[in-house]
Amino acid sequence: MNKIALITGASSGIGKELARIHAKNNGDLILVARRLHLLQSLKEELEATFSIQVLVFEFDLTQGNAGSKLVDLIKEKNIKINFLFNNAGFGGYGDFVEREIQQDLEMIQLNVTALVELTHGIANQMIENGGGKILNTASTAGFLPGPLQATYFATKAFVVSFSQALNQELRSKNVSVTALCPGPVQTEFISVAGMSKSKMFQGAKSAEYTANKGYNAMMNDKLICISEPSLNFLINYMLWMVPRRIVLKMVERMQRIH
Ligand SMILES: NC(=O)c1ccc[n+]([C@@H]2O[C@H](COP(=O)([O-])OP(=O)(O)OC[C@H]3O[C@@H](n4cnc5c(N)ncnc54)[C@H](OP(=O)(O)O)[C@@H]3O)[C@@H](O)[C@H]2O)c1
Repeated sequence: MNKIALITGASSGIGKELARIHAKNNGDLILVARRLHLLQSLKEELEATFSIQVLVFEFDLTQGNAGSKLVDLIKEKNIKINFLFNNAGFGGYGDFVEREIQQDLEMIQLNVTALVELTHGIANQMIENGGGKILNTASTAGFLPGPLQATYFATKAFVVSFSQALNQELRSKNVSVTALCPGPVQTEFISVAGMSKSKMFQGAKSAEYTANKGYNAMMNDKLICISEPSLNFLINYMLWMVPRRIVLKMVERMQRIH
């Protein structure tokens, strides 16, 4: 196998499009998610179209130590990862105290813990092998607190912060780390988060558009990629000027469904 990319959350949305882009660039793939049948059909599609090899791993990354177990499996099979896409993640709408705590704990496990475990294992492997590239799918939600999706926004703030720090630590070791920060994207994320009735996703970007932006940013060793230009301007030039209490009220109003 060559130019091997490990992609979590490759069965749908942004992850599936990242897989298609990498395949088009003649890179081999390790696809990870829970829905094996979707990974299998993507494997068939990509192997029929490009001269590449695709392996699929059925993995529930909300299980304890799942990220570390995936790293162990990769090592056992003697696979050397060149590109890591920490992309799997989900959100959840509602007042924090009224949500099932188990759902939020699983969200932290997937969006944060599994990402940290995978990054630790694979970054070490990349250093041993002379380098590599990592793209962490964060969100514009990572730049501000999110009433009505409090845990989700906090997980993405972790990913934005963690990715930047690692970018600095790993630069000299020839491993690049980029945080992809999309705004709303038209994927299954919306229904999984219980936000199908939300107006926030009107005019959402496509998964293909978002994946292309992220992939290019990673290839160019960018630190952060806010994939929507209008949100890039708002976050970098406007957000810091608005009083925090007003930001909180605005986000709550934007997100409220009922
Ligand atoms: N859509 C948006 O508006 C938006 C905006 C900003 C950031 N993001 C971020 O983008 C990333 C990709 O989301 P998406 O929009 O492409 O949504 P999506 O279509 O729902 O994709 C989520 C992927 O994560 C996988 N996944 C979910 N739970 C998992 C688990 N327990 N173990 C392993 N894999 C799991 C899903 O596969 P299975 O269900 O088959 O396991 C799926 O492949 C997420 O990190 C999300 O937070 C999305």
